[in-house]
Amino acid sequence: MSRTWAIMGTGTIATAFAEAILAEGGTIAAVGSGSPERARAFAERFGIEHAHGTHHEVLSHDDVEVVYVATTNERHHLDVQACVAAGVAVLNEKPFALDRDHAASVLDVARQRGVFVAEAMWMRVQPGFLALHEQLAAGAIGKPRLVQADFGIVAEPDVSRRWFAREQGGGALLDVGIYPLTFAISVLGPPTRIRALGELASTGVDAQLAVAMTHRDGLSSWSCSFVADSGVEATVAGETGSLRLGGPFHHGSDLTRRQRDRVVETVEVVDADLGYRHEVREVHRCLDAGLTESPALCHADTLAALDAMDRIREQVGVSYG
Ligand SMILES: NC(=O)c1ccc[n+]([C@@H]2O[C@H](COP(=O)([O-])OP(=O)(O)OC[C@H]3O[C@@H](n4cnc5c(N)ncnc54)[C@H](OP(=O)(O)O)[C@@H]3O)[C@@H](O)[C@H]2O)c1
Repeated sequence: MSRTWAIMGTGTIATAFAEAILAEGGTIAAVGSGSPERARAFAERFGIEHAHGTHHEVLSHDDVEVVYVATTNERHHLDVQACVAAGVAVLNEKPFALDRDHAASVLDVARQRGVFVAEAMWMRVQPGFLALHEQLAAGAIGKPRLVQADFGIVAEPDVSRRWFAREQGGGALLDVGIYPLTFAISVLGPPTRIRALGELASTGVDAQLAVAMTHRDGLSSWSCSFVADSGVEATVAGETGSLRLGGPFHHGSDLTRRQRDRVVETVEVVDADLGYRHEVREVHRCLDAGLTESPALCHADTLAALDAMDRIREQVGVSYG
């Protein structure tokens, strides 16, 4: 069923997601921004009827069924809290909150009130990621024992923008490190021990990190960076081979199975080019089914990643307090 959305935020990802909603036959009834001009420009671009100069005003429309929160990191939990208080379903950008405790308290209230809430960890509904997990479940490489992944991009050096802004929850970990971390958790479960090393930017947030983790039955090592342009690849090694997802791993279609140093299979991945549309479909599917939690974008995994990121920031000396 087609759904009526509202969007909080007018930045890069709000723009990409608005296109995905419309491509999936959804309607966008309202947009909220900290700036009336930005809200108006966004509304005009996408034919949205209501443009608001505050984010939470989008909740004043009775026809809004689901809100997409695409504001900066430090606001996420407050924006979701407002949606839950209004009884409106919400898809909240990653990271769900700056730390585990804030996320847990919002999710508790959502559960009590029976409101659908999901973190927009779009990697989890991408065909490449799902194909890799199908291969693992079918035993294609035996028992997975080791995960390696990297996510390095060179962020704009402008320290006034969100990437390096401590007051906006900046840093490579919350922005891109969350992907290899979530990938490792999806294969091996939550980490049992974590060792992190980091380089900090002049603003006090993490510019890059190297992280090693133990899991109940395996190891992962991964890195994230705002100062190095890495290949953004992920490999799962098992007892009889490995699976490598590249190009980039969080929404790529380049999935190969290897034995020793040879590619033995190129796994077909279809519809990998639909981007955020998979996430829109997942939300529509959950709402149609009357679910309050998406099995793919589940709360336990959101909390496990946030818990690990709290511990990593403590080890490398980054704090948002
Ligand atoms: N899932 C993904 O693939 C993905 C990708 C990128 C980012 N994200 C997440 O989405 C969130 C937003 O990221 P983003 O990349 O969209 O950030 P962004 O482009 O920097 O936008 C963030 C906010 O900055 C404000 N803004 C936009 N253009 C501006 C301008 N010209 N001057 C001043 N302020 C401006 C807007 O505030 P107003 O709301 O007040 O208008 C906007 O909501 C982050 O939490 C990030 O982690 C997710």
